[in-house]
Amino acid sequence: MEPDFNIERLIRRDLVNFMAYSGATSPETLEGKTEVAVKDIIKLDANENPYGCSPRVKKALRKYADFHVYTDDKQTKLRELLAGYLNIDGRHIVAGSGSNQLIDLVIRLLVNPGDEVVSCTPTFGIYNFSTKLCGGSLVEVPRDENYTVNIRTLKAAVSNKTKLVCLANPNNPTGTLMPRDDILDLLDTGVPVLLDEAYYEFCGETLAAAIGHYENLMILRTFSKWAGLAGLRIGYGLFPENIADYIMRIKMPYNVNVAAMIAVKESLADLDYLMENVKAIVLERERLFRELQQFGWLQVFPSQANFILCKVMRGGARIFKQSLQQKGILVRYFDNALLRNCIRISVGKPEQTDALLVALREIAADEEKAATEHSLEAMLEEEEHNHEH
Ligand SMILES: Cc1ncc(COP(=O)(O)O)c(C=O)c1O
Repeated sequence: MEPDFNIERLIRRDLVNFMAYSGATSPETLEGKTEVAVKDIIKLDANENPYGCSPRVKKALRKYADFHVYTDDKQTKLRELLAGYLNIDGRHIVAGSGSNQLIDLVIRLLVNPGDEVVSCTPTFGIYNFSTKLCGGSLVEVPRDENYTVNIRTLKAAVSNKTKLVCLANPNNPTGTLMPRDDILDLLDTGVPVLLDEAYYEFCGETLAAAIGHYENLMILRTFSKWAGLAGLRIGYGLFPENIADYIMRIKMPYNVNVAAMIAVKESLADLDYLMENVKAIVLERERLFRELQQFGWLQVFPSQANFILCKVMRGGARIFKQSLQQKGILVRYFDNALLRNCIRISVGKPEQTDALLVALREIAADEEKAATEHSLEAMLEEEEHNHEH
């Protein structure tokens, strides 16, 4: 190797300071750092399904013997299965290693350096991540104080440099839904729209029936949330046929692993079981919302997904996040220009909600005690000071 080898001189200039996507904390990395054992950590930070996957998936994977064989790169059976489930022609469907991979493929397909991608912020970070990786720039349309989108502002942000509008519906991390008519209004402009329905199953709102009727509509779904398969990485996209063809051409070969393919088959054969869990999560979401509202120092935003966003109005959200983590409960923390002092809590099982509520009360009481002691100390100091003089 050359003695003065310097990788920074070789890698793309725009990637030298590229910021990594910051994902959720893995419990195993917290070994010894929380009051509870790793196995007892309550993970409410990544919108995973607390009920796990269908037992059929585990059983089928235990029995499978051909992990040494590559999968069908054309996804023939998988597309057929999804087509049957969705009642859509399989030629509109492409599966990916999580819907993240499909976001990335769509952006790679459309975005050249200098192109623009529009998104309604705060929103899911991968739109920005993949746009930047392609050398494009993200045009941010800020949501209002309730995190809804003004469709006129959104349409006005579309320029002749715009290659794509990314719209998470319901949105992550806010849980807000955009009205169907607004999305149709946006589609009528002709701009390509990537409608990310990762949380569709928790709200029932979809434009899937419009696939094929709009040349510019693309929809993404995932098995990570409703089917409890986040760790297996499986999502799919619904596209106009010609776009699906292009995505199939540029995707990596064998992009969906065999375990994920088996998991899709078994999950679709166990819909009643999985949808019961979805129902339980939606019910629990409503209870969590009501309970969180009882804390006067939290501003709680209504959600159509499997998580709830809260703004901490007294004290720092970071302290709450850290104190919860100390007690073995993980939540997502945000503090940026668009999400000041916020935490996002994924909906768990009822007993996990109970543990969260107890922990929140304890932390709030500790905070209050510390604040009282602090002001008492200050008062005493002042008295002492007055005495001396
Ligand atoms: C809006 C949105 N889209 C896509 C994803 C990615 O899901 P996956 O790659 O697990 O399918 C997420 C995950 O949190 C999300 O919130």
